Amino acid sequence: MGWFDLLWKRSQHYVLKLSRKLDSRRNYQVGCFPMSKKITRKELLNILKTVKDPELNADLVSLGMIKEISVSEQKVVIEVELTTPACPLKERIRQDIISAINQIGFNQSVEITFSSRVRSSFTSEQPYLKGVKNVIVIASNKGGVGKSLVAANVATALSRMGARVGLLDADVYGPNIPQLFGMDGHQARAMQGRIEPLEINLGGKYPLKLMSIGFLLPERDAPVIWRAPIVNKLMREFFQNVPWGELDYLVIDMPPGTGDIQLNVVQLIPHASTVFVTTPSDVALADVNKGIAMFQRTGTPVIGIIENMSYFVCPNCSTKHHIFSKEGAERIKEKFGMKIMGKIPLDLSLREISDKGYPIVVKDPNHEVSKILVEIARQIADAVSVLAVKRESQRAVNGRSFVQLPLKSSD
Ligand SMILES: Nc1ncnc2c1ncn2[C@@H]1O[C@H](COP(=O)(O)OP(=O)(O)OP(=O)(O)O)[C@@H](O)[C@H]1O
Ligand SMILES: [Mg+2]
Repeated sequence: MGWFDLLWKRSQHYVLKLSRKLDSRRNYQVGCFPMSKKITRKELLNILKTVKDPELNADLVSLGMIKEISVSEQKVVIEVELTTPACPLKERIRQDIISAINQIGFNQSVEITFSSRVRSSFTSEQPYLKGVKNVIVIASNKGGVGKSLVAANVATALSRMGARVGLLDADVYGPNIPQLFGMDGHQARAMQGRIEPLEINLGGKYPLKLMSIGFLLPERDAPVIWRAPIVNKLMREFFQNVPWGELDYLVIDMPPGTGDIQLNVVQLIPHASTVFVTTPSDVALADVNKGIAMFQRTGTPVIGIIENMSYFVCPNCSTKHHIFSKEGAERIKEKFGMKIMGKIPLDLSLREISDKGYPIVVKDPNHEVSKILVEIARQIADAVSVLAVKRESQRAVNGRSFVQLPLKSSD
């Protein structure tokens, strides 16, 4: 290379360096991402690929959660499709997106909207409960710990959040769901050989589909004395022959114990997500331990535990009493490594409202217990959606490009 070539190259180098410096100064004066350079969809998508769903630990783009983006001179609009309408991490996701965009100095106004599409937990063609995306089983070996009350309120809270919900009373020997919704004496109709669920509209706003043996018996107090084969047949009828329609969640209120009904659920609906209810007392915990072990042994995921009758706040002096002992849920959590979905106090008005046939989350939504129950429903929906997205990612491996999330053996 001659002297002239070398000199020319050097001068080009300095011209380039100077123009970059001027450019950066101009940008600095504007104080944002180069305004002349409109951010493209591709650039925005790349930024969104750095934002992770806090629970799934995968980015929003790979998870298929970015439903829509639009970019104009003035603003950027991003629609995030949550995996549950009840997502408790919505605000965190919003903040993470905004800070990722701000980090690169782009300060056009950013509008983030949220929609939701509940994902399905079923991994393959489902022989039972067609049209139902997720099944939430509310269980406990122990009787009288509040399973039915929790199931009724969780189902109602999910409906309030905008999900399509059904509630199946699987307690064929002692059905309580009709009473908890003030539906005692109502009868289900058979249509073309199928038993229609009863459709109610709570507070005139929140629809819910109900099915219980209580709607099939000729009279309210008729005793149910059935052997296992009949119970097995009935469970299959509930799963196969009730036209539930399209549901985001079917909540199942279980009877106590680990008998035929539990076996039917774990065998016929292995992808159901189970939540255990317990009081903190040692006696209840001993039973619940056995129940969780049974569900886990059959490979049915147990996603969490709810401690009911956790404490009592004296209405006169506001002292908190732990009538049934304390921190029982923590002991289960330690042993099985599962999440505590919430703690419900022993509360007189909760009992009164429930026994009168109303779910408290609709009858008195501002009551402290209602807030706890709504938060429990949110936690459950969130845990279910994490499982569903993991399973969806596993299913999609052969099809679209999709992030593959690890499944634990319990998933
Ligand atoms: N946190 C609470 N505070 C006050 N009363 C409660 C509470 N939880 C449940 N109850 C009441 O305790 C009774 C038993 O509750 P529930 O029927 O829901 O229990 P269960 O576990 O479904 O019982 P079973 O095993 O018989 O099906 C009901 O009268 C209910 O209203
Ligand atoms: Mg019950």
